[in-house]
Amino acid sequence: MVIQNVFEREAFYGAPIYHPLPVVLTRGEGVWLWDDQDKRYLDMMSSYSAVSCGHAHPRLTAALCKQANILSLVSRAFYTKPLGRLLEKLCLLSDLEMGIIMNTGAEAVETAIKAARRWGYRAKEIPKDKAEIIVVAGNFHGRTTTIVSFSDEPAYQADFGPLTPGFRLVPYGDVEALAQAITPYTCAVLMEPIQGEAGIKTPPEGYLQKVQSLCKGHKVLLLLDEIQTGFGRTGKRFAFEHDGLKPDGLILGKALGGGLFPVSAFLSTKNVLSLMTPGSHGSTFGGNPLGCCVALETLALMEDERLSDHAAIMGEKFMKALKEIHSPLIKEVRGKGLLIGIEIDASRAKARAVCEGLMKRGVLTKETHETVVRFAPPLIITWQEIEFCLNSLKQTLNALE
Ligand SMILES: Cc1ncc(COP(=O)(O)O)c(C=O)c1O
Repeated sequence: MVIQNVFEREAFYGAPIYHPLPVVLTRGEGVWLWDDQDKRYLDMMSSYSAVSCGHAHPRLTAALCKQANILSLVSRAFYTKPLGRLLEKLCLLSDLEMGIIMNTGAEAVETAIKAARRWGYRAKEIPKDKAEIIVVAGNFHGRTTTIVSFSDEPAYQADFGPLTPGFRLVPYGDVEALAQAITPYTCAVLMEPIQGEAGIKTPPEGYLQKVQSLCKGHKVLLLLDEIQTGFGRTGKRFAFEHDGLKPDGLILGKALGGGLFPVSAFLSTKNVLSLMTPGSHGSTFGGNPLGCCVALETLALMEDERLSDHAAIMGEKFMKALKEIHSPLIKEVRGKGLLIGIEIDASRAKARAVCEGLMKRGVLTKETHETVVRFAPPLIITWQEIEFCLNSLKQTLNALE
């Protein structure tokens, strides 16, 4: 059957795993998107923080096209030059020593879990199949069967069991609970420095530092998932820099691919990653020359345009302006840099209604967990463009009051 209507075709042939806003996007440039009626929208979500450099950045599309015409994929059965260059660059940026390049975020998280377990057995001498990883409530690390196994969101797990064992869930922000969960079998603590999908939740002051000390004291790896917070999103290159941390493992993705190509990475120390051996892990597409070249150009662009600094400045001004909006619908504004969440009073309106109102007024974003409106625009956004978002938000809130 051939269906013409875009919404109906997708609903008929696609499994209903998403609930998109009713807009058909056909074009993007910088912070702007256009629909099939040529209406323009400000992108305040940047594909869950993956389009940090903006849409169709000419430097990135040029790098993509150039490399696509040279060499795109040969698998890891052979050497290529861009892979080593990307690994070197990422290690230098993060002050870590070795890495594995994958494609999606979830794959990089899986890589981190495997590497941490292997280190647990081979370096910490945890008895066979006993290794445990501590995770925190509200975590979001992706959608594989293992990753959803340690989520506390029932919708992510429902009827996908049997779940993978080996994870302990503790309340977020509670150092004492985390300390009590550590056993001789604990190989790692895994968390996001700011929880994205949970609703842009920042940790209590000093929490991450205390977690790091606990990890050090108990010979436990601290693995930070910066898939959403990395590469300038929070106003620093990595969010852990706000707390002066030094993670043992860093998980990266999203923005690394410049919004053009899925590129993710797990970085760690030689102690951990040199325990991985040929055959222990891999990916047909992981580390391909096309993705690596796009990632290298993305990193160069971010440095040249000082996107972290720009995100810090814009984020602070934006947050201040949002906090000055006096609307009974707003319960809280929180976040860091250009990763901002607005908690909507659920008794007055749904976050989705705010997103729909914003859409009508030319601003696109998506709610998270029914009550939070997220603002995570491309980091190249200007103050004038943020003012456009602020005005649309004020009008939307007024209309819903
Ligand atoms: C913190 C974090 N980890 C992992 C993921 C999963 O990444 P992907 O969707 O590329 O698998 C996400 C995606 O939103 C994320 O925000």
